Amino acid sequence: MSAQSSQKELFEAAREAMGKAHAPYSKFPVGAAIRADDGKVYPGANIENISFPQGWCAEPTAIGAMIMGGGRKIVELAVIAEKLPLCTPCGGCRQKISEFASADTRIYLCDDAGVQKTVTMAELLPYAFETDVIG
Ligand code: THU
Repeated sequence: MSAQSSQKELFEAAREAMGKAHAPYSKFPVGAAIRADDGKVYPGANIENISFPQGWCAEPTAIGAMIMGGGRKIVELAVIAEKLPLCTPCGGCRQKISEFASADTRIYLCDDAGVQKTVTMAELLPYAFETDVIG
């Protein structure tokens, strides 16, 4: 698959996932889609809760789908939010993504037309928390 069609497939999966968001409180639907090391695409949307801190972002939904589906590493990831072109993953999500990514993992920032900007994990989260002391 060419890099361009790979990006397009991830964009479309993220957009479709955004349509499944449960965001009645913020009214800010977000979609994410991961291409994992197994070649599969794992989508996710934000899922909010009436007890506001209990909700979570689109990215951890996609990470959960990846792990349960047998994927182990994030090769590339697309994020889209209909109300915010080029929505970047929030701080907590950057740390969650980095657990399963490499410095050169590509993150695609989208608008309603497609992928508009590509950043690497290292650009998105410089000085990430990592250490060999734990584990
Ligand atoms: N949100 C995400 O799903 N991903 C992000 O990286 C940014 C924020 C969600 C969380 C909440 O449901 C809504 O967007 C508004 O913050």
